[in-house]
Amino acid sequence: MDMNQGHGAEELFQAQSHLYNYTYNYIGSMCLKSAVHLGIPNIIHNHGKPITIPQLVSALKIQPTKSNHVYRIMRLLVHAGFFTTSKIVQDDKEEVVYDLTPSSRLLIKDNITSLSPFVKAMFHPALVHSSEFLGEWFHTNEVTPFHTAYGMSYWDYLSQNQEFNSLFNEAMISDSGMMNLVIKDCKSVFEGLNSLVDVGGGKGAVGKIVSEALPNLQWTVLDLPHVVENLQNTNNLKFVGGDMFQSIPSADAILLKLVLHAFSDEDCVKVLKKCREAISIKGKEGKVIIIDIVINEKNDNHELVQSKLYFDVLMMVVVTGREREEHEWEKLFLESGFSHYKITPIFGMRSLIEVYP
Ligand SMILES: C[S@@+](CC[C@H](N)C(=O)[O-])C[C@H]1O[C@@H](n2cnc3c(N)ncnc32)[C@H](O)[C@@H]1O
Repeated sequence: MDMNQGHGAEELFQAQSHLYNYTYNYIGSMCLKSAVHLGIPNIIHNHGKPITIPQLVSALKIQPTKSNHVYRIMRLLVHAGFFTTSKIVQDDKEEVVYDLTPSSRLLIKDNITSLSPFVKAMFHPALVHSSEFLGEWFHTNEVTPFHTAYGMSYWDYLSQNQEFNSLFNEAMISDSGMMNLVIKDCKSVFEGLNSLVDVGGGKGAVGKIVSEALPNLQWTVLDLPHVVENLQNTNNLKFVGGDMFQSIPSADAILLKLVLHAFSDEDCVKVLKKCREAISIKGKEGKVIIIDIVINEKNDNHELVQSKLYFDVLMMVVVTGREREEHEWEKLFLESGFSHYKITPIFGMRSLIEVYP
């Protein structure tokens, strides 16, 4: 029996196109990866003006036999919104030139808001390969598809794999660099605080940005020992190696940026209870500051929802975490003994959540 009887050919061809589009999503991802690998955003940026394909090819220093394939990658990435084209007249000849868009400008290396290290790390085989086990994982007893692929947790893999550990930490630093854009608007969040512990604070990228802006605030980064080893303390920024499930130093406030989304509800409640103990010195004025995704399918635009849902499944593939809707966050806060919270969506994909005892 043909299940599609009664549907017009046009509708079915549209459905086929939709299906193939999703099937080949990874081809688009790989073109983006190639552009980063080849350094195309930097080449266009350094060129100082829109670039022709021959100029791009000459700067790429690739095998001459591959020269006439470059425009194909560029054509797809123009279609995907990473580059734009326009026409110029040069030596009486009309030529197509390629320029950056806001998305590819974020890939220019060494820029303060460069996300190139983030994109590079997210394409690491450990992440791409483990996602291939998603379907199979549902039939296994493994904790995550990452366990199915590598026989250990993501955190253990990081601690045993120096190269990936460095890439991952660089990715987190680059992601935090975006905070520079809005940190001036966030000063009120840190006002009245003398001390803060940045739990799972990585290499202290946010700590460096905020502690420089607020010299009277004592900022402590708590992260796993292999992450914070050999990091230099400064006047008001210090690094402590430890485990947030065991103990969190006391402070006026605790920051958890992109930490709770990587853990199950049970683990989040354990950490949040430890946070509540840690801020008890400040009484009712203490707070936990969370920077993380809040899924909001009703109010967010289609692309934002898509990015958040991708993150959610990534958290399912590599760790025990999830991205949460507001009511799911609320449940965690109440279960951990907090009384109220305030959500401010100021970091694009991420929101700022202040949680009070
Ligand atoms: C997704 S990263 C976020 C890093 C940083 N907050 C940022 O936004 O750039 C999660 C961090 O949690 C740390 N982490 C994981 N398990 C931990 C634990 N048990 N105790 C302390 N930190 C932990 C990881 O090492 C990692 O640096």
